[in-house]
Amino acid sequence: MAKPFGQSTLGVRAGQRRTDLKEHSEALFLTSSYVFENAAQAAAGFAGGGADFVYSRYTNPTVTMMQDRLAALEGAQACVATASGMSAILATAMVLLKAGDHIVSSNAIFGATVQLFSTLLPKFGIETTFVPLSRIDEWQRAVRPNTRLLFLESPSNPLGEVADLGAVAAVARKAGATLAVDNCLCTPALQRPLALGADLVIHSATKYLDGQGRVLGGAVAGAKGPALDGLVGFLRTAGPSISPFNAWVILKGMETLEIRMLAQSERALAVAQWLEGHPQVARVYYPGLPSHPQHTLAKRQQRAGGAIVSFDVKGGKEAAWKVIDSTQLISITGNLGDVKTTITHPATTTHGRLTPEARAASGIGDGLIRLAVGLEDVEDLKADLSRGLG
Ligand SMILES: Cc1ncc(COP(=O)(O)O)c(C=O)c1O
Repeated sequence: MAKPFGQSTLGVRAGQRRTDLKEHSEALFLTSSYVFENAAQAAAGFAGGGADFVYSRYTNPTVTMMQDRLAALEGAQACVATASGMSAILATAMVLLKAGDHIVSSNAIFGATVQLFSTLLPKFGIETTFVPLSRIDEWQRAVRPNTRLLFLESPSNPLGEVADLGAVAAVARKAGATLAVDNCLCTPALQRPLALGADLVIHSATKYLDGQGRVLGGAVAGAKGPALDGLVGFLRTAGPSISPFNAWVILKGMETLEIRMLAQSERALAVAQWLEGHPQVARVYYPGLPSHPQHTLAKRQQRAGGAIVSFDVKGGKEAAWKVIDSTQLISITGNLGDVKTTITHPATTTHGRLTPEARAASGIGDGLIRLAVGLEDVEDLKADLSRGLG
């Protein structure tokens, strides 16, 4: 057997389908439907489960290229793209679960996912128990006979807590449940959850897969079989499909994913090290720092620490806002996954809807700042942060 291609090669080559026109760069198929030779072929296309190109709600060649490239990078047999990260999570829940089923989820997940699990899914008879990400005993304790899905993000956002993916996968296996990992922060360039025991990998492709903050997209990758087939069926019936244009942007974004993730991680580590030595900084949260309580686990699971660095400044909200408001280069925005560095104050933005008690319980203090480090020069980032840090 030929030696399998490396990650760098897969990032730029996997999934490409050339037409008879022999285009070198991947083509963008902006078409909603496809023509058939005759009525019998049309009937066969409609009867098939999505193997032929029929209608772009669930089959499109550009989307197929994006799915196949991401599957190759994640080491998955198959991948289904969706309109956004949230629709990937919703579609997964709709396909795997029915009324009466139960989810065990990390409590350190994206806010909209918390809302989906705690307000929307209960309307359909699906309950969720939230547990601390790194407490395997709590994952085990929360499992019930009707638990069908375990869900987590690792590292967590914004505090960079890391889950032992193999240990959570063992809990899922024992329970006969599916472990789905939202791999948005690491991407397959840094971490491949399927190789560590997860059953499904979920993506907000809006973030690092695109990498330049242009389009929304999502994806679910895993083994060929009922879950992935069910997702194609869900798209066909319910319609949260990715636009071929967005899929094309993400497909091309994946060509630079590995070098971006490594370069952004390198810059994030340099900024984290500098912040750790700064007299106005009380604490830095970054899994790539040796001082991080789960640094050894992070090093085992991840190729690098990723681009998210959070830190507590001395002086609470006032001091944190001063740092943010004094920036001239870094963008004040809640988004992440961009080559432009962004800065946000989680307590009053992404986590602003939590009660002060719930915020404190999840470790989001008033002095916490989250940086999503991009590709600028580290010295320029330090200079920009120094303005308000004093
Ligand atoms: C970890 C994580 N998962 C899912 C999402 C949702 O993705 P989208 O905005 O593409 O719906 C986000 C968005 O910020 C995220 O950060």
